[in-house]
Amino acid sequence: MCGIIGYIGSKNAREIIINGLKRLEYRGYDSAGIALINGETKIFKCAGRVKDLEDLVNKSSFNGTTGMGHTRWATHGEPNELNAHPQVSYKGNFVVVHNGIIENYALLKKHLESRGVKFTSQTDTEVLANLIEHLYLEGDLTAEQAITLALNRVEGAYGLVIICTKEPDRLFAAKKGSPLVIGVGDGENFIASDATPIVEYTQRVIYLNDDDIAIIKKDELVLKSIRTKKIQPEVKEIDLKIGEIDKEGFAHFMLKEIFEQPRAIHDTFRGRVLPDNSGIMLGGLHDVIETMAQSERIIIIACGTSWHAGLVGEYIFEEYTRIPVEVEYASEFRYRNPIIRKGDIVIAISQSGETADTLAAIKLARAKGAKVIGICNVVGSSIPRETDAGVYTHAGPEIGVASTKAFTTQVMVLAMMAFEIGHQKGTLSDSAYKDLITELASIPEKIENALKVNDQALELAKIFQNTHNALYLGRGYLFPVALEGALKLKEISYIHAEGYPAAEMKHGPIALIDEKMPVVVVATKDDTYEKVVSNIQEIKARKGIVIAIVTEGDEIISKMADYVLEVPETLPVFSGLLAVIPLQLLSYHIAVLRGCNVDQPRNLAKSVTVE
Ligand code: G6P
Repeated sequence: MCGIIGYIGSKNAREIIINGLKRLEYRGYDSAGIALINGETKIFKCAGRVKDLEDLVNKSSFNGTTGMGHTRWATHGEPNELNAHPQVSYKGNFVVVHNGIIENYALLKKHLESRGVKFTSQTDTEVLANLIEHLYLEGDLTAEQAITLALNRVEGAYGLVIICTKEPDRLFAAKKGSPLVIGVGDGENFIASDATPIVEYTQRVIYLNDDDIAIIKKDELVLKSIRTKKIQPEVKEIDLKIGEIDKEGFAHFMLKEIFEQPRAIHDTFRGRVLPDNSGIMLGGLHDVIETMAQSERIIIIACGTSWHAGLVGEYIFEEYTRIPVEVEYASEFRYRNPIIRKGDIVIAISQSGETADTLAAIKLARAKGAKVIGICNVVGSSIPRETDAGVYTHAGPEIGVASTKAFTTQVMVLAMMAFEIGHQKGTLSDSAYKDLITELASIPEKIENALKVNDQALELAKIFQNTHNALYLGRGYLFPVALEGALKLKEISYIHAEGYPAAEMKHGPIALIDEKMPVVVVATKDDTYEKVVSNIQEIKARKGIVIAIVTEGDEIISKMADYVLEVPETLPVFSGLLAVIPLQLLSYHIAVLRGCNVDQPRNLAKSVTVE
């Protein structure tokens, strides 16, 4: 939610910042801006994409070796030039880029207005800039003192980079609730919302913690708490290669990420499945796996696609561990005073590790005494740091806003956890455990085969690109996959789509079916196969158009459905990992044919750091 990058050194700051913003654009893309220092501080801002900002900046020859940029996902005030960041304080001494929400901004604004301060935008960020300026001037403070004081007065979340035009040899950065990472270079330093724009220049990073404030010069870095204590920075090496954040010849990041799934899934279990498929070892759970096995109840919390993965997790855990599982939207869980009993385990799932609702739900669960286990993709993000233990999915950077490989790798981690716990508890026999692991190890190759439906998915997309509605049905493990398929279609192609348990269709959605309504039925072979066959008959009896995802060689549904896409055979527990592939591809091609911006769909953002 909003991308931030700052640079201080001797290189061309303008180029570094614009390129960095392009890498961060997945975080928000409704307006953008840049501030450059070269004697004076010049600001360029516009509504629209980073490309629009680049065109604007290119009309000027102004450059510098220090600066910062922002790509926005609007929270306060519509996305126009005025509300774009950087925001400048009323006397022009402070220039601010901000990710997050200042919750008490209205109160602060009223107070400042009563002191004669004038505002030009509708943003909460301008309130913060003006508060800093006001404290700076009234108290005759240094920039650092004014910023620190202001941050002690604001409530809410922020990732901030601030320039004081009177102290142009430094950038100030501060974090609370919204991520910021410093890239440590030689004679230059970087600051950004995540490491993707930094890895091109350095692998040495410092993740800021909540309440940290950093004073960043080109060859000096001081880290303090806003409670003014000095902190010893912890520099980490990150293992992120620039190639991992390029499209590598694919038309879109989403397509690249769909095709990367065999590799991503393999990375998820690599080193965790013992030789000869004899067992599973999840290092991150070493100290908690026994407690998990003894737990009375598991609560899974997540948002969006990660919530769908959680739902698959519920089915897997209950089947193999016999521990009751509840799956909750983090945003609901956090606000309804949930009951946490002794012996409850909470599993939080998040690709980004930064989703504000999931983070808040984790904090609440821990405050109520639960042990919280994280499943995350982004190494070093906030959620892994807020949980008691956890497992990384190792999917690699996911840039497309619509989640694909995050889903399949999260399901894989949940399966590994459940098998491991089930085996420890004895609800899963030695031989069943081994069989499951053997099948698990074959999933990358099976996904590779499932990807062969790509051309067929494109042909289907040509037929259905102009549909207005679509229904997605599935049962058992395939119900969450139906939800995920519908979400993929609506978020990138803006076609209304609904996912439903196949049997529930007759309690409502069946009324929608007519000869124009495509119904995607996820119907690979498992225990409910016969029942799904009946559901397909019910749709056909009402002249609905059936697109079925079936197991290779299926002869029954292939005769009934109007169109079929085949995936390889696997055990029911892994069926979703394969069945989701044609759904991802179908949504992708429909969105491309409709001329939609696949990687950056309207109104969405990859990392939702506001509640
Ligand atoms: C946003 C993204 C989704 C993602 C959801 C949860 O809505 O667009 O793709 O599933 O946030 O994000 P998380 O990073 O917590 O998995």
